[in-house]
This record gives sequence, structure tokens and C-alpha cells, in this order.
Amino acid sequence: MSQPTKSHGRLSISATAKPRELISDTPDLQGAWTARVITLVPQTFPGVLGASLTGKALEQGLWQLQPIDLRQFGEGRHRNVDDTPAGGGAGMVLRADVMGDAIEHAMQGTPRARDDWPLVYLSPRGKPFDQAMARRFSRTSGLTLICGRFEGLDQRVIDHYEIEEVSLGDFVLTGGEIAAQALIDATVRLLPGVLGNEASAEEESFSDGLLEHPQFTKPAIWRGHAIPEVLLSGHHARIAEWRQAQSEELTRHRRPDLWAAHEKDDPDG
Ligand SMILES: C[S@@+](CC[C@H](N)C(=O)[O-])C[C@H]1O[C@@H](n2cnc3c(N)ncnc32)[C@H](O)[C@@H]1O
Repeated sequence: MSQPTKSHGRLSISATAKPRELISDTPDLQGAWTARVITLVPQTFPGVLGASLTGKALEQGLWQLQPIDLRQFGEGRHRNVDDTPAGGGAGMVLRADVMGDAIEHAMQGTPRARDDWPLVYLSPRGKPFDQAMARRFSRTSGLTLICGRFEGLDQRVIDHYEIEEVSLGDFVLTGGEIAAQALIDATVRLLPGVLGNEASAEEESFSDGLLEHPQFTKPAIWRGHAIPEVLLSGHHARIAEWRQAQSEELTRHRRPDLWAAHEKDDPDG
């Protein structure tokens, strides 16, 4: 997919149809990659995304975050968002009508094409998140993320909106927020201008289907352990060769699945 042209960081604040109380009061940065996050705990955002490189990029308007408080769409005086599972069983399930309203609200003003604005539910049953998915998301205009809580989401909402389910891994979190922040972090660092050194994203683990080689820095000797001599040789070709060999060795031992895929794609190495 080709990279859509985007102008980042224009601080023009556009008028939106959003009721102010339903969406965070972050100004709408026209053209900046946007994550809209439906959550019962909007106060957990930006969380770790507000720090370091992603935080700096957020301040610079290279991307924007719009948490949407699911509670606001709740039913009745207590704004209930959940109910007991049909058919019985433990826990509570997020109601289809409540989440449906939140999704309709979140989709206002977003591109209709899902390729350009995916609708994602963080879920342990989803497709495992990986670097290729982060790359795909970084080429969109933005995405809407749904964070589940309790026993999760009424299946009818997932089917009705053809929501893409994405998992952070084979474990169960209490809610989707940590998964959403991980997904956003991995995606935002691939946006143009976010990483100071553009080359570093290309050399990282997974970018060529292999794990990254070990890294070293000063001091040259630490507690009797020396940096591998080749890295201090200044001989670029030998260094590249050593790093490639280390990457292959690590991947073969630690991730036979990645190694098999790499061998299939590139049998001659
Ligand atoms: C306690 S979990 C629900 C687990 C669900 N009953 C199941 O067994 O699949 C509550 C919410 O946390 C989020 N969550 C939990 N584990 C996750 C994972 N591995 N990846 C992404 N989201 C996860 C989902 O949004 C989920 O709806």
C-alpha cells in the first residue's frame, strides 16, 4: 500500500460535531495521524505514550490521541455499560447498544474506507499484533481502538461493524488499555518524523524478519567483559557481516518460527 501524503502537525483547530463532554478536549490537528480510543478508563491515557519519543511527537502534533469515555454512552441514571452474560456464567459483558453508540460517535468524521481507518477491538482472541501490522496501521490516517473490560464485548457488535480483533499475545489482561497503548506506541514510532534517526526503525528486530543483533556501548571494558573486537575495528563491512551472523544465530535459536519464515522467503540468505 502506498503511503498516503499527510501534512503533520498543523495546529489549526477545526470545529467538530463532537459534544465536548464526550471526547477529550484535545484540539483536532488536521492531517495528523489519530488514535481514537473507546475506553471505560480514559484517565489512563496518554499514560506511557505521553513520555519520551511518543510524548514529544504528541506535543509536536505529529500524531494525536482522542480518548472517548464509554461511560458517557451508558444507560440510565447510573450510566450502565454492562450486563450479565446471556446463557449465564461469571462476570459481565459490555452491552451492544452502549458500545454501538460509542462506535457511531467515534466514527464521525473519519474516512469510510477501513483500509484508511481501521476499527480494532483489542482482544485475546484476535490476530496477534506484530511489526507488519504496526507498519500497516502507520500508513493509515488513523484508527479507532475499542478497549474491552470484564468478560469482553457482545459478539453482535463485533459482527455488525466487522471489527478487526487484535491480540497483544497469549495472555489475558484486565482490560484493553495496555494493549491499545502498546499498539499505538509501535505504530506511532513508524510515523514520519517521530524517530530522530529514520534508519534505526529499519535496522530493528523484525524489520527484515530477524531478531536484532546484540548492542554494546561504552565503557570498552566493563567488569572484565570486553566489547567484541570487530565492533571497535572501524571496518564497516566486517561489522555488518558480524551483525548479520549474530541476528541469524539469535533468530535460529530463539524463534524457530521466524527463522523458518525467513528461510522460506530468502533461502539463499
Ligand atoms: C478480562 S479480558 C476478557 C477476556 C475474555 N473473557 C476471553 O477469555 O477472551 C477484558 C478485556 O481485556 C482486553 N484484553 C485482555 N487480554 C488481551 C490481549 N491478550 N490482547 C488484547 N486485549 C486483551 C480485551 O479488550 C478484553 O475484552
